[in-house]
Amino acid sequence: MNLIVWIFTHKLLVVLIAVIISLALSTIILAIENRKLRNEIDELIAKETNLTEMNKYRLPGMVKPILYELYFYPNLSTGLFKGKVDISVDILSTTDSISLHSHTLNIDNVHISSENGTYSLDQSYQLLTIRKTDQSNFTPGKENLQIEFSGDMKNRIVGLYTSSYKDANGESRRMATSKFEPTYARQAFPCFDEPNMKAKYKVHLLKPKDNSYIALSNFPVSNITDYDKENQLVSFEETVSMSTYLSCFIVSDFAHTETSFNNDGKMIPLKVYASPDNLQKTQYAGEVGKKVIEYYVNYFQIPYPLPKLDMVAIPDFVSGAMEHWGLVTYRETALLYTNTTHSTINKQRVTTVVAHELAHSWFGNLVTMNWWNDLWLNEGFASYIQYKGASAAEPTWGLLDQFMLDLHAALNFDSRLSSHPIVQTVLTPDQISEIFDLISYKKGASILRMLENTVKETTFQQAVKNYLNLYAYKNAITEDFLDEVQKLVGTVLNVKELMETFTVQMGYPILTVTRSGDEYTLTQKRFLADSTASFNKSDSAYRYRWSVPVTYITDLGKSSSFVLFNYNADSIKITRPTGAKWMKFNHDQIGYYRVNYPKAEWDDLIAHYGNFSVADRTHLLEEAFSIAEADLLDFEVPLELTKKLSAEFDYMPWSVAYIKLRSILNHLKWSGSDQEAAFKKYVIDIVSPAYNNFSWNETVDYSHLDRLARIEIFYLACLVDHEACLSEAQSYFNRWLKTRQPITPDLRRIIYSNGMKKANKTTWDALLEIYKNETDASERLKLMKGLTSIENEDILKKLLELAKDETLVRSQDFFSVVQFISINPSGTDLVWNWVRSNWDYLVHRFTLNDRYLGTLIPEITSTFATQERLTEIEEFFKEHPNAGAGVASRARALEKVKHNILWLSKNKKTVEKWIRKNSVL
Ligand code: BES
Ligand code: ZN
Repeated sequence: MNLIVWIFTHKLLVVLIAVIISLALSTIILAIENRKLRNEIDELIAKETNLTEMNKYRLPGMVKPILYELYFYPNLSTGLFKGKVDISVDILSTTDSISLHSHTLNIDNVHISSENGTYSLDQSYQLLTIRKTDQSNFTPGKENLQIEFSGDMKNRIVGLYTSSYKDANGESRRMATSKFEPTYARQAFPCFDEPNMKAKYKVHLLKPKDNSYIALSNFPVSNITDYDKENQLVSFEETVSMSTYLSCFIVSDFAHTETSFNNDGKMIPLKVYASPDNLQKTQYAGEVGKKVIEYYVNYFQIPYPLPKLDMVAIPDFVSGAMEHWGLVTYRETALLYTNTTHSTINKQRVTTVVAHELAHSWFGNLVTMNWWNDLWLNEGFASYIQYKGASAAEPTWGLLDQFMLDLHAALNFDSRLSSHPIVQTVLTPDQISEIFDLISYKKGASILRMLENTVKETTFQQAVKNYLNLYAYKNAITEDFLDEVQKLVGTVLNVKELMETFTVQMGYPILTVTRSGDEYTLTQKRFLADSTASFNKSDSAYRYRWSVPVTYITDLGKSSSFVLFNYNADSIKITRPTGAKWMKFNHDQIGYYRVNYPKAEWDDLIAHYGNFSVADRTHLLEEAFSIAEADLLDFEVPLELTKKLSAEFDYMPWSVAYIKLRSILNHLKWSGSDQEAAFKKYVIDIVSPAYNNFSWNETVDYSHLDRLARIEIFYLACLVDHEACLSEAQSYFNRWLKTRQPITPDLRRIIYSNGMKKANKTTWDALLEIYKNETDASERLKLMKGLTSIENEDILKKLLELAKDETLVRSQDFFSVVQFISINPSGTDLVWNWVRSNWDYLVHRFTLNDRYLGTLIPEITSTFATQERLTEIEEFFKEHPNAGAGVASRARALEKVKHNILWLSKNKKTVEKWIRKNSVL
């Protein structure tokens, strides 16, 4: 009775208690669910680690290197080298043999602490296994392995190799240099070639006595002694503990410019090296390097850890650049800049590559991923932090906004079934080579940007600093970093779980918005470029659902924080601020997700296009097109949006527009549409105001971003046959051929390529001569772009064969030439046929481990849109089943062509109908 009365009089309290109890219960249930999922994930991870540990490609781990005392005797005239190494190792448990890596080396002699040893080589796992002659065991403690070896530096571009260039007198000069990441240190000296086997190095390098020759390594020179009549032995200070792939050795006759940077009060020398004729082009990289590194020292609150920093432009270099600690090496095009020869794009490339490589001094070199599975801890971080560093050096370039273009590339790549999770098990050298891809770099960087925005800048910076301090000179896994973030964030947000939904599973969500009055309801599903593609949700521990920090902007302002859309929630609701006229989600496109709206909302956003920031405008364009391409939105929506471009003058929106409009144009062209010309006419209409806004001559003092915009807009105008654009390009080209008066560097590529389109054999030969005599690497590439742009197929065919000649096209540039020709509509089929009939040649020359050979196929087939072509590709893969480092690339090529075919069946009619309505021919 009393109870009933009590309940009756305390109605409110009872309801409250009931609510609390049910809330608590549901939290407990949720927590249990979470725990279950966590366990599943842990199991998965554990399984993968076991697999890894069992794998024969991995070293057993009971022997650890401590110090490599290393002697290299490279012979520049024969292109051969000899070496000897004394490795001090720590044996952790009793073993009958010691295995380390060695590949493409001759092993001449093995001693164990001065006694003879025996050894065997295993080609397939690239292992050298050493035993004591009397077959007795190695017992725990210290031991020394002395190995003499020799090898060949010629005809290769990884490991220890020769590179050459022509000096001012046209004479060939040779150098020896090295590039080891990820698994090529073992091609230069026997070593424990895994990133978590850090050790110190004492290096001695033989160099010609001739004073013009220098020897460089990671640390400063400590001593030079005469070795024989012609040579000296250069010894270097002992290094700090570091991974094998970061060691570097150079003997060359290079010159340098010098500056220094402030390292927490102490000045550190910064030198930029290049072949002597390129010396004056090293100045800019030095200036940028100084600013960038001083910024990093301040941002990380950790001094640059080494006593010197050298940066070197290498004439033959397989990638863009490589972060060897204290001795960073670059392709010439990524380090050399001077405003009379190089374009704004070249300049920005130098700035961002320098900023990227120097970020590795902390992310990668000081703290290194434990194994290649977590490569993104190196490359994703450097790819993100580089934007901070570069924009500290060049604050007016809008670089932080420009990041979006990397984000777009990641979203595009990651919308395919052939994508992969950021954290991915890799074992073989081919697999390791293959994950140096867009996912590790650009998706990695993109989710860090989202993380920083979610936890706020200061927390992110503090977490980064704590992580670097905690793991300095050691190795880390993804969880180690996320733990540092979580510690600072506390319990208000499970940030670790949020990030894991993006690191352990591939892909990302599209949020679908519905609206009822002021209330928006958002649901999520995996976004796929082909929305009809099927996949198995249980392949992923998070079942392809993500924890998304949702942000928005309205005409009244930005959301103050984010609304969390947890991966296990069905939907979330967000209320539109009262009085707001429009509302756009994911402001400035910082989140790694897409948002689709009802048609009326899209119309609303399009109507307000002019009110948005550059980033939001860029986002809207990219989003509308990408969602329509996936058939989740009527293609009319992005096409209507392009009408707004007639009042657009900024770089980034035009950069997105260029990609998307060119893609439509390709589809129309390849399907023989009768609307191709009408579409070009429409694009001419919308690009004309922007085109007229810029001038071809250099009298105007354009800002950096305006320069980039001009290039993009001129390119687009010429692509759609804008008459004035084509005739300007042609007349500049003709005048230049006659007078050879240098053209402004920004417009050279446009002028060379458009000027050459209709050229005859005589003109082409003339350009080839100019190319042959040109020594600047960036200018050579622009000229090559011209050579590849001719419509004449016989000449293109001839060029493909000519490109095999290394004196004409360096190995590092070979695939660029092939790709340039394939972008030329007259060359697309030609390249496809040529690559198939020259496959054995390509594999022999570059090996299947070459990641550029891997990505070649998706690149040259990316516009194919017929069943016939698809079958050809499939047959080619069947004929050549071994893909090497191109396994995922092959899958990507097939998926892309299938999607192109689908595009035509779904969108061609809509697009043609829209063109008919909107273009007057
Ligand atoms: N660590 C890489 C170099 C590398 C690339 C080694 C691929 C092994 C395989 C370096 O830091 C890098 O990322 N270089 C980029 C350029 C950079 C600015 C994105 C490259 O070479 O493409
Ligand atoms: Zn890198």
